[in-house]
Amino acid sequence: MKNFTIHTLGFRNPVLTASGTFGMGGEFDGLTDYSKLGGITLKTVTPRPRSGNQPPRILETPCGLLNSIGLENPGMDEVIRIIKSEHPFRAYDTNIVFSIAGETADDFTRMADAVIGAGDIDMLELNLSCPNIHAGGATFDSDCANVRAIVSSVARLDFPFTVKLSPNQDILGNSIAAEDAGAHALTISNTFLGMAFDRKTGEPYFRNKVAGFSGPAVKPMALYNVYRVAQKVKIPIIASGGAASAGDAIEFLLAGASFISIGTMNFVEPDIAETVADGLAEYLREK
Ligand SMILES: Cc1cc2nc3c(=O)[nH]c(=O)nc-3n(C[C@H](O)[C@H](O)[C@H](O)COP(=O)(O)O)c2cc1C
Repeated sequence: MKNFTIHTLGFRNPVLTASGTFGMGGEFDGLTDYSKLGGITLKTVTPRPRSGNQPPRILETPCGLLNSIGLENPGMDEVIRIIKSEHPFRAYDTNIVFSIAGETADDFTRMADAVIGAGDIDMLELNLSCPNIHAGGATFDSDCANVRAIVSSVARLDFPFTVKLSPNQDILGNSIAAEDAGAHALTISNTFLGMAFDRKTGEPYFRNKVAGFSGPAVKPMALYNVYRVAQKVKIPIIASGGAASAGDAIEFLLAGASFISIGTMNFVEPDIAETVADGLAEYLREK
């Protein structure tokens, strides 16, 4: 059987859940067996609490989901307080991946340091597809120089981390920059930009007009991105985009990914990551 490792961290299998689709730990208790998963990735946390976007926030489309959640979360201090006082993750027999998004480039290292200090976390995921308030709201990964600066600063902490990139920016350039700057892994990728219109009002369906598109419909595009990034980098790739079966996971491995993360499909089948992990184990045993 293959070894599944990112930096110093071993995983029992290459199947993870994706940030924002598996809660903050606890929401899937009793619905799936965490000990069958390589890891669970928690909802992205920001420096300050965020109430998220005004509804509507979700729209189902054939084979996909548009979301405009707006990173709703209780904020870093509250999450650290809960981790330190209640140790919510100790009961979970799997790796815990903690996703962070700064408001400024400096926030990432400060937040990473605080999360590592809180304990019980196995890996960090830097969500670089969030807006940089010092750059007028442009996302951090809209500029390779930002990616390089943030990643090299977090790499100095020498704690396992992956860098999650957007498919709506220069994902290849950003991947190369992140690897150069010391990233331990890449998560390819966050959601694709998409839109819907309300036919009655003639207005965009979402208040922000644009939303993130995910689910089975995006798999071919995610596969293409994983494939082209894998041609250029050596660090492990966590594939994220549309995986709905062990067959999809196998395709991501064939495209060059080392890990597969399951997102939108958790809402359809809460134990799908477990099913994918089982199917993949059979495939890897035969290899
Ligand atoms: C409702 C929803 C909320 C999400 N929230 C986050 C988030 O907080 N942080 C993040 O990095 N990605 C977030 N994502 C993106 C997913 O983690 C994943 O990368 C993306 O949906 C593609 O995978 P999928 O097609 O398997 O869902 C969210 C996706 C959905 C559908």
